[in-house]
Amino acid sequence: MKALLCKAFGPADTLVLEDIANPEPKKSEVLIEVQAAGVNFPDTLIIEGKYQFKPPFPFAPGGEVAGLIKAVGEKVSHLRVGDRVMALTGWGGFAEEVAVPAYNVLPVPKSMDLTTAAAFSMTYGTSMHALKQRANLQPGETLLVLGASGGVGLAAVEIGKAMGAKVIAAASSAEKLEVARQAGADALINYSEQSLKEELKTLTAGQGVDVIYDPVGGELFEEAFRSIAWNGRFLVVGFAAGGGIPALPANLPLLKGAALIGVFWGSFAQRQPQDNADNFQQLFAWHAEGKLKPLLSQTFPLERGGDAIAALSQRKAVGKVIVQVR
Ligand SMILES: NC(=O)c1ccc[n+]([C@@H]2O[C@H](COP(=O)([O-])OP(=O)(O)OC[C@H]3O[C@@H](n4cnc5c(N)ncnc54)[C@H](OP(=O)(O)O)[C@@H]3O)[C@@H](O)[C@H]2O)c1
Repeated sequence: MKALLCKAFGPADTLVLEDIANPEPKKSEVLIEVQAAGVNFPDTLIIEGKYQFKPPFPFAPGGEVAGLIKAVGEKVSHLRVGDRVMALTGWGGFAEEVAVPAYNVLPVPKSMDLTTAAAFSMTYGTSMHALKQRANLQPGETLLVLGASGGVGLAAVEIGKAMGAKVIAAASSAEKLEVARQAGADALINYSEQSLKEELKTLTAGQGVDVIYDPVGGELFEEAFRSIAWNGRFLVVGFAAGGGIPALPANLPLLKGAALIGVFWGSFAQRQPQDNADNFQQLFAWHAEGKLKPLLSQTFPLERGGDAIAALSQRKAVGKVIVQVR
C-alpha cells in the first residue's frame, strides 16, 4: 500500500510517498481502508520530533481518519467488515490502510459523509469536552474563543452557539474572522490590530468574559485572562503560538474568583468513555440538525500531505484541512 512517510524528523516537505507492507490488525484492532485523513496541529509537531509521542521511523503522520473496515481482530465484537467508521490513530493515517485499537473507532452516522467524518472527531470532541465537562458553559453566558477560525477554535464557536452562549471570536485577520462569523460568532476581535482588553470591555459592558477557550497561548494567554469575569473559567487547550508554555501570576485567578482549567480530550476519552460517547451522540444530533457544519477548507491528495501539514504550521489554514486518500 501507499503511505506518506516521515523517515527522519524534519519539515513537511521531507515526507516521502512509498509502497510499504499492508498493516495486520492485532486481536483488539480493526484494519481501516482510509478514505480521508484530517490534519491537526499535532501532525505539525510529530514530524519534527516535538510531540509527546515519537514513533519509530519510518512512520506516516495522520492522527485521525475515516473509511471502511477491511478486517477485524478476533477480540473485536462490536464492529464489522464494511462498517463506515471514524478513528483516532495517533499517527499512521496518511496511508491507504491503518490498524487501530477498536476503542478508538466510532461508527459514522448516516447523515455524515466519510470525508467530513475524517475532519470531525478531534476538533469537535475536544471542544465539546472543554465547553461541557470542563467549563460547564451555560446558555446566555459569554464565550471568548481565541484562534477562532482554526480547527478546534471553529468547532468551539459552533458548539458554543449550539449551547446558547454569546460567542466572541478572536483571530489574527479579517479573513479568518469572516470564517468565524459565518460559523455563527456574535462578535469579532482582530487581535493583530485591536486591543483585546478594550474590545472585551466594550462587548461585555465592563463585566468580562464568562468562559475563555484558548488553543493559542503565547502573549494572548495572560492578556485574555485579565479580561475574565467574576466566576470565570479559562480553558487551557493548546499552545499553537509556540514560544514556550505561558505562566500566570496567581493573583489573577484569586482576584476574579476565576478558574484556570486544563483540557486533555484524549485522556478524558480513555478515562471516561461513556461521557465521551454521550458527547458524540449530542454532536452527531447537532450535525444532523444542521447546527454544526464542519468547514473543509482545503483538500490535498496523499502525495501532497506535506503541503496539508504546512498549511497549519504556516498559520494559513482555516477550519479543517483534509488529505483525501481515496
Ligand atoms: N487539549 C486538547 O485535548 C487538544 C486537542 C486537540 C488540539 N489541541 C491543541 O489545540 C491547538 C490548536 O490545534 P488545531 O488543530 O485547531 O490547529 P489549527 O487549526 O492550526 O489552529 C491553530 C490556531 O492558532 C492560531 N495561531 C497563533 N499562532 C500560531 C502559529 N505560530 N502557528 C499556527 N497557528 C497559530 C491560528 O489562529 P490566528 O492566526 O487567528 O491566531 C490558528 O488558527 C494546538 O496547540 C493543539 O495541540 C489540544
